[in-house]
Amino acid sequence: MQSPVAERGPQSFDRVLSSMCTEPHPAARRAAERFLTTNPGDPATYTAIAELEHDAVAGLATVTGLTDAVDAETPTALAAHGYVTSGGTESNLQAVRSARDRAETAATATHDPVVVAPESAHFSFHKAASVLGVELRTVPTDDDGRADVDAAAAALDDDAVLLVGVAGTTEYGRVDPIPALADLAVDAGVPLHVDAAWGGFHLPFSGHDWGFDVPGVATVTVDPHKVGRAAVPAGGLLAREREALDALAIDTPYLETASQASLTGTRSGAGVASAAAALDHLWRDGYRREYERAMDLANWLADELAGRGLGVVDPELPLVAFDLPAATFEAVRERGWRLSRTGAGEARVVVMPHVSRESLSAFLADLDDLL
Ligand SMILES: Cc1ncc(COP(=O)(O)O)c(C=O)c1O
Repeated sequence: MQSPVAERGPQSFDRVLSSMCTEPHPAARRAAERFLTTNPGDPATYTAIAELEHDAVAGLATVTGLTDAVDAETPTALAAHGYVTSGGTESNLQAVRSARDRAETAATATHDPVVVAPESAHFSFHKAASVLGVELRTVPTDDDGRADVDAAAAALDDDAVLLVGVAGTTEYGRVDPIPALADLAVDAGVPLHVDAAWGGFHLPFSGHDWGFDVPGVATVTVDPHKVGRAAVPAGGLLAREREALDALAIDTPYLETASQASLTGTRSGAGVASAAAALDHLWRDGYRREYERAMDLANWLADELAGRGLGVVDPELPLVAFDLPAATFEAVRERGWRLSRTGAGEARVVVMPHVSRESLSAFLADLDDLL
């Protein structure tokens, strides 16, 4: 007989090195609890959470460099630039859907829509391609794990409806050359979607060009429930033009509002409220401090691992991939460390807000014991 749910708790984050989610900010946790019974999918009925979603989208617009939207005088116009999704998967799927459907109405419409993406793109693009009936054409990355611009250029033909760049890859934390990809996209007449689901809250401080300040970037995925420190579920989809979201809108006869652009109907008010609260508390200095802390820690960890003779992939964002013999990897996991591997087999540590110098020192001590 299992114990009652009331006596159970979630995992501790002490030994979690693999996850791209983290402990929510205390204000985000409180906001999530307060708005548990709301549904932002029906904004005319649940007006309080609809207002908070507006705030959250305004915050995400600032994070991604969509300054025109933030300055817009009419608040409803701002809401047309994005919404709080269930996560990066929904955001990526919706970006593909919007691009496919907008291309369908163009004079040059294709019957075989293709999405071109680097092979480093998150597996959510494979789901999107399968659900939406588009071909996902993946192209190689360079030796350092970033999208190969020449390979992307060669893959863009008349059937292409979208080019994808990743700003913070899931496996290595690499940032694709977004300005070069954006130029390509403009030349090919397709939108560029930037997947910054994980990297988006670090990138404003890292010196990369990655968001809407790069001309040609049409849509961006950025997830509050990852580095943004909101409660799950809170993803973000942002669009430069309101038409990109209008293309997603479906009539909703029995709701108080006339149409809905989100993929899911009923949505988590807890996620939306916690995203708004986290942004309110952490943008901009809180996120900047976390970027600097996590980057320092990632560089320190990389040095420590290299000092032990392990091959380390130089971190670009706070994610460290390194060689670890398979037996040691398993032994470390048996000691309770939640650690995952890249497709090529390296171990990867995601330096999330819950990962501290103390926890990494304990991890290294276990490694020393095992190696
Ligand atoms: C770059 C990237 N995109 C998309 C996703 C999917 O996000 P979610 O799991 O919130 O659907 C992830 C998840 O780790 C990711 O790293």
